[in-house]
Amino acid sequence: MSKELIRLANCTMAFDGEVVLNNIELSINDKEFLTLLGPSGCGKTTTLRIIGGFQRPTSGDVFFDGARINDIPPHRRNVNTVFQKYALFTHLDVFENVAFGLRMQKPAIGKAELVSRVLEMLEIVSLRGFERRETASLSGGQQQRVAIARALVLRPKVLLLDEPLGALDLRLRKDMQNELKRIQQAMDITFVYVTHDQEEALAMSDSVVVMDGGEILQIGTPEDIYNEPENAFVADFIGESNIVDGVMTADGSVEIFGRRFACLDGGFAPNEPVDVVIRPEDIDIVALGDGMLTGTVTNVTFKGVHYDIIVDFKGFKWLIQTTDLSPVGARIGIKIDPDGIHIMKKSRYSGLFGDYSSYSAEYDEISDAAAVPAGTAQEADS
Ligand SMILES: Nc1ncnc2c1ncn2[C@@H]1O[C@H](COP(=O)(O)OP(=O)(O)OP(=O)(O)O)[C@@H](O)[C@H]1O
Ligand SMILES: [Mg+2]
Repeated sequence: MSKELIRLANCTMAFDGEVVLNNIELSINDKEFLTLLGPSGCGKTTTLRIIGGFQRPTSGDVFFDGARINDIPPHRRNVNTVFQKYALFTHLDVFENVAFGLRMQKPAIGKAELVSRVLEMLEIVSLRGFERRETASLSGGQQQRVAIARALVLRPKVLLLDEPLGALDLRLRKDMQNELKRIQQAMDITFVYVTHDQEEALAMSDSVVVMDGGEILQIGTPEDIYNEPENAFVADFIGESNIVDGVMTADGSVEIFGRRFACLDGGFAPNEPVDVVIRPEDIDIVALGDGMLTGTVTNVTFKGVHYDIIVDFKGFKWLIQTTDLSPVGARIGIKIDPDGIHIMKKSRYSGLFGDYSSYSAEYDEISDAAAVPAGTAQEADS
């Protein structure tokens, strides 16, 4: 495990008395790729600006390599930033854009070293041979890589990136995600990356920090955040999830819709109400009689690799991802393995997320109780 490089301790940021970051605690390791993820306005850029020194926290401390740096200005921090609007120098070619910061350095570095450092950086961002190109003649992705080279040539210990791929189309974004990860590993430095795109965060990061309303809700590896979300907000924000009310009847047993399901979680109070997350890909469709719950298909969307189907269980609509087609109107049974069920504590986000009613046009008309043959032992609403 590598060592801590940056720490925000009890950082609060308020503008005109309005708190936009509330008591943030964040530790960033050396050589880590850490991503701040959350919806618009949650405080991602503000957090980045505090690390970069462009903003001084209203209260709390910022540490770099163990030293408090609250009062150190941006240019004296060992940190560089790539903004979404990276504004290359249009009157300079690619080489001079990258060389710019080096030429400003005091004491001045020798010409041979300057050339070799610029070329080395262009190699790393895969732009060798582009030295004399006008920046205006480059594609969006190439311009973005010039901006990254320009920031990295100064050899910061940390690169801050604020939604740097926001302006690129989807295909280019995906290519650049791989590029950025590769560049970070090649340079062997810390990246602090801001995005509101959960897929991007999962694909690139060592650690993901999920934020909402100026608070950090969860910090973890992409796998942790996806498989063990802390609350309904995180579960909903990261990927698709069905989130239903449950009651923990015992360790390893949760009651949903009046049925008991085996699960792997424990440590709750007897009969504690909980939120239950079930990912759409963890639900198996089985014959009606074999189902732990049965419901009616109300909507089917072909997604290429799989179908998204919406299934009504007594008015609550679940999303299931499956490669088997079940037509609209079909009665189906479902099975969920214990490791497909994740239990979360109730939170202020309970009840706000995880029902797929809006996917189905027929929400108001369907009453699946009417379609239930009498005596179906496994029925959801029995
Ligand atoms: N200089 C400022 N003065 C007043 N309010 C500010 C200032 N900077 C940020 N805010 C407010 O702080 C909150 C968090 O802003 P921030 O830019 O950190 O959000 P963000 O997570 O980066 O959002 P986005 O994804 O839209 O970029 C917002 O409500 C914003 O309006
Ligand atoms: Mg922002």
